[in-house]
Amino acid sequence: MGVRRRACITADRTMMVGGFVCRQSPLGRRSVLSRDVPRCCAVVLFKECWLGKHTEETVLRTPHETTHYDPRTAEHDLPAKAPAVLAPVDLGNVHVGTPVILSPMAGVTNWPFRVLCEQYGPDGLYVAEMITARALVARNPKALRLCRFAPSERIRSLQLYGVNPSIMEQAAKIVVDEQMADHVDLNFGCPVPKVTRRGGGSALPWKTDLFTDVVSRVVRVCDAAGIPVTAKIRVGIDHEHETFHEAGHIAQEEGCKAVTLHARTTAEYYGGHSDWSRIGELVEQLDVPVFGNGDIWGAADALAMVEQTGCAGVAIGRGCQGRPWLFADIKHAFAGSDERTDPTLGQVCQVIMRHATYLTEFYDGDERMAAHDMRKHVAWYLKGFPVGGGVRRAFMACESLADMQRIVDGLDPDARLADRIVDAPRGRVRFAKKVHLPYGWLDSRQTTHDEREALFGDDPMDASY
Ligand SMILES: Cc1cc2nc3c(=O)[nH]c(=O)nc-3n(C[C@H](O)[C@H](O)[C@H](O)COP(=O)(O)O)c2cc1C
Repeated sequence: MGVRRRACITADRTMMVGGFVCRQSPLGRRSVLSRDVPRCCAVVLFKECWLGKHTEETVLRTPHETTHYDPRTAEHDLPAKAPAVLAPVDLGNVHVGTPVILSPMAGVTNWPFRVLCEQYGPDGLYVAEMITARALVARNPKALRLCRFAPSERIRSLQLYGVNPSIMEQAAKIVVDEQMADHVDLNFGCPVPKVTRRGGGSALPWKTDLFTDVVSRVVRVCDAAGIPVTAKIRVGIDHEHETFHEAGHIAQEEGCKAVTLHARTTAEYYGGHSDWSRIGELVEQLDVPVFGNGDIWGAADALAMVEQTGCAGVAIGRGCQGRPWLFADIKHAFAGSDERTDPTLGQVCQVIMRHATYLTEFYDGDERMAAHDMRKHVAWYLKGFPVGGGVRRAFMACESLADMQRIVDGLDPDARLADRIVDAPRGRVRFAKKVHLPYGWLDSRQTTHDEREALFGDDPMDASY
């Protein structure tokens, strides 16, 4: 790489100086850096000086990876009907009648949304958004709010996140002792830099000893109470550092009752497409049920994934944003029926108001909080309906349920969704530009004593997607 005399500072305060990647602290303090490695997947080592506190991290600069198979564009015949009824899945003593999971989504899958989904598909598995183990152990009120379930929820399913096996074990004990959940999922799929730079989420399976430790301790605690544990993983950090084979085997051997694979790497973030062929690989290797995840936008995609991968069930994230009725479609599809939901705008508005009412309860009667939380949901609910920008902006300014009702009353209840939007991709589609990891993370598959010391002192309390 040639020497550049003038530093070019990017938004993340990195700069190139003389073939070195440099980083500047907010106070303009200088950073210690390393030479860019000229590989297709360059490893850039940062050593930062932040107010005298040294933090080090490894940053993977990976060209936007694309997997070879795109279920949305590849030419395939999506089956109109399931070839056969898809069998229920038992996770220990938790019976999932329709093997479909509402994939945990931070800021989305709180009980109000889960209850709506469950009303459409009463026998799926609806997972709460991730709870940071340390926050649960510290009884952080925000974390405790996220652990609430509605009385109607058939399976109370929590997802835990953390890198410290001891804290994860303590969090699992709280869940068990206080009978907080019927099922625990473990998050090893989060790609967010705030999480991966601490070795968490999708970075963690790279360290097989740490991964084993976290899984085994949580399973031991939960098993004793008859609570099944599952693991949610990605393909790996990038295609040069894939982890899902080992992670799947370890999860199974340590007692997880199922594994969900989001078939993207951390580097792929939410860009490109989930490579369903990797789900098929894992299905072949494991005895426990594998749930396939990524890019299911409609019932036909779910059928196609099952047909192409042999997965025991599917997990759905963005596809159900603003469309909780997708779970009814999947239930029908897995039962061999081609019945699908095609709501009018009037019906969607009823769901919007029901959602807002539940959220008000979730926020202990605070309608303002509920109206604000509804903003993103309303944008998803209205996607594809002939609703003008003025109405959409008016929703964004709502401060109460009455404000929302007034707008809803002015809409055409008979309006229908544009055909091109039905089952089209929605939500986040961004590529990760870089993968942030603890310094030297990729040097070995095992953690050193020093690495553990460094990691466990700094478990993020507020990790969010
Ligand atoms: C807004 C948002 C929040 C998410 N939060 C979580 C989370 O808390 N825990 C988790 O394991 N995955 C989380 N995910 C990932 C999803 O569960 C899912 O794996 C991913 O979106 C791929 O599935 P999809 O293509 O059906 O959306 C989140 C995704 C999005 C878009």
